Amino acid sequence: MCTIGLGACKQTQLLSDQEFNKEWLFFKGEAENAILVEFDDSNWRKLNLPHDWAIEGPFSKEYNARTGGLPVHGTGWYRKHFQISKVAQNKIISVEFDGAMNNANVWVNGQFAGKRPFGYIGFEFDITPFIKFGEENVIAVRLSPEDLSARWYSGAGIYRNVKLKINNKLHIPQWGTKITSKNISGSNTQVNITSSICNKYKDQKTAQLQTQILSPKGEIISVITSDIVIQAKTTGIVDQKLNVENPQVWSLETPNIYTAISNILIGGKTVDSYESKFGIREIKFTPENGFQLNGKTIKLQGVCMHHDLGPLGTAVNYRATERQMEIMKGMGVNALRTSHNPPSPEMLEICDKLGILVQVEAFDEWKIGKVPNGYNKYFDEWHEKDLRDMIKRDRNHPSVIMWSIGNEILEQGKTDGWKIAKALTEICHSEDSTRPTTAGFNYYPAPFENQLTKYVDIVGMNYWPINYEEILEANPNMIVYGSETSSQTSSRGVYHFPIEAKEQHQTNQVSSYDVTVGPAWAYPPDVEFEQQEKVKRSLGEFMWTGFDYLGEPTPYGGRDNSTHGYWNDDWPSRSSYFAPVDLCGFPKDRYYLYQSQWTTKPMVHVLPHWNWEGKEGDIIPVYSYTNCDEVELFVNGKSFGKKVKGVDLTPIPAEFHFFPKGTYLSKYRLSWDVPYQPGNIKVVAYKNGKVEAEKEIHTAGKASQINLVADRGTINADGKDLSFITVRIEDENGNLCPNANQLIEFSIEGNGVITAVGNGDATSLKAYQSKERNAFNGLCLLIVKSTEKSGIIKITAKSNSLTCSELTINSKK
Ligand code: GAL
Repeated sequence: MCTIGLGACKQTQLLSDQEFNKEWLFFKGEAENAILVEFDDSNWRKLNLPHDWAIEGPFSKEYNARTGGLPVHGTGWYRKHFQISKVAQNKIISVEFDGAMNNANVWVNGQFAGKRPFGYIGFEFDITPFIKFGEENVIAVRLSPEDLSARWYSGAGIYRNVKLKINNKLHIPQWGTKITSKNISGSNTQVNITSSICNKYKDQKTAQLQTQILSPKGEIISVITSDIVIQAKTTGIVDQKLNVENPQVWSLETPNIYTAISNILIGGKTVDSYESKFGIREIKFTPENGFQLNGKTIKLQGVCMHHDLGPLGTAVNYRATERQMEIMKGMGVNALRTSHNPPSPEMLEICDKLGILVQVEAFDEWKIGKVPNGYNKYFDEWHEKDLRDMIKRDRNHPSVIMWSIGNEILEQGKTDGWKIAKALTEICHSEDSTRPTTAGFNYYPAPFENQLTKYVDIVGMNYWPINYEEILEANPNMIVYGSETSSQTSSRGVYHFPIEAKEQHQTNQVSSYDVTVGPAWAYPPDVEFEQQEKVKRSLGEFMWTGFDYLGEPTPYGGRDNSTHGYWNDDWPSRSSYFAPVDLCGFPKDRYYLYQSQWTTKPMVHVLPHWNWEGKEGDIIPVYSYTNCDEVELFVNGKSFGKKVKGVDLTPIPAEFHFFPKGTYLSKYRLSWDVPYQPGNIKVVAYKNGKVEAEKEIHTAGKASQINLVADRGTINADGKDLSFITVRIEDENGNLCPNANQLIEFSIEGNGVITAVGNGDATSLKAYQSKERNAFNGLCLLIVKSTEKSGIIKITAKSNSLTCSELTINSKK
């Protein structure tokens, strides 16, 4: 049991938020009387949060493939025994959950503290009346996610962080500051801070609110103190204006973060303190200039992302989230749409830090459900609180540029659907007047005809690239962008011949030539690139999706294009094929197609691999992606000629729903037909006639060794940090064996644990928590977590017939 007292800062006796993640007890199933203090939980499993019970599996056809083929639904209980020192007796004690999946009900010492159905929103309960100071307390949390409650893998459990907060009775409540700035281009920026101050004393309080602004380096650069009087049992609002000289603006290239520290002083003594992070930046959306950040137009090169972390499930982990966004940045991504729900607080912190713009989305359903047990069940009672809380939570993040009130909401098709859109937009504006609202519409032209599009500030279109121009001609003042685009599918390292899109292979794997095998609304990325170039006024796009995610294994087991129904008929497909990056974070070929359009540092890519034994003399289509002017292909040293980007087009068999049947000619890919002979293929990219980038693939020989490559050789000894280790199966010369699928066994010594393994195969039913994994097309992934002890972590990888391999990483305090 842990004892929690007042916070650490001795000088000012500040009270602080304390991590409340350790030493919980968990039971999967119904547990009668588990709310009671005396309940016997001695047999329950001990664990630390965040925790996702469903990722532990097993995968089974009995669960829905659309929700990951994992046991999401059912009841789960968490309990924690804790003490709070008597020193805190006159304080306010609250417990804050960043999110719990879902239908959370919380009791403290047998008394009901509160509930929250929506799994993606944070919430907090004041538990002061239930606490026995200096004695044992028990918090019990019951979660009950239902079957068929989402169209993707939601995870299950207390999957985000929990904090215990000890505050003075006069304090700034959860999400209690709102920070905006004015005149950012001048030498003096005005920062406006509106703070809520909650008085839980029985009488009126006279106090002071002192707000300090800290520069990105942490130096105090501005201070203001206001006298305040707050009536008993009320929350007062205080507006303060502070000056910041020579502001260091937040931009994609300079993601500068300021800190505001709000101190509450009674009788000149600091009795409570609250920290807010913010950025100084200006955003503007206009029909003439599109989206502008600090006066500069930026086209959105965005991705939609679900919230899971692949083999780690949905249990929030800072490093795993950061790695996802680093990989996205490497592809040229500058924006994220948090489809289709509020993200973890960590995700926004990371986007602030990396300089990535964010559209925070609230809902996938309003009143009309898409699944039998969806959010529509809770919409009437909870939508206003959920939406207000989302905005209060996220509005100080400089990365957040718009609020999405819904994705493909079925009210688009209703004549009075606009009424809900209007109400939701009004809620957003009342909480934050600085950002526009938007929604992702997939019906066309219905939401234009029934006025729904009038009640969002910016119109997002899902999968209608060919209509952007028509929409803008008919609505000259409208601001439009692709809120969801492409939905191309593919499996890493898989190539099928011939490459026609219509071919549906029975392997449950989709070819990486990326010419569309997918749902009826899908189309290759090239189509969107072309429209975005043509329609200058479009803000850009958010492609579906940045990372593969658990669940929705379209085109297998999910071919329905109208009702979002459920199929298991293509089992064992159980996770998505949509992304240019697989579930482990390994890039597929499509990653480089986006890179060739979204980045400027010279790059070139070539596909497929060059191990086609038995196809000697057959024609193999070779594709190359580059951001340079032209590419020359060499096969075994012989040139197959140069191709010029934008001039030499690649024919793609077209069967997209909005496109006349026939052949679509891509300006974005270069291609050659090459009779196969083993050896090597090499692409050389030129810019202004000068060689700028090269890539070469060799026909790999027999698999002979394992190569372990860590993303970070030193990690923090905090029991949370991760090292992601790429496991490559190579021939004796270090070439990746593109068809290798050997089983690799891992062992670990020292101050780390194996936390998960994976290989990016959307059909694998092996447990992620295992210590062994088969490679999938030459690669698998090992995720190692630090313990709280620093030192060396030694990893060994073994496989029959391959030379065993070792890797050492450091873990430091
Ligand atoms: C969209 C939907 C997404 C996802 C995608 C797959 O219609 O908004 O959530 O299902 O289709 O292509």
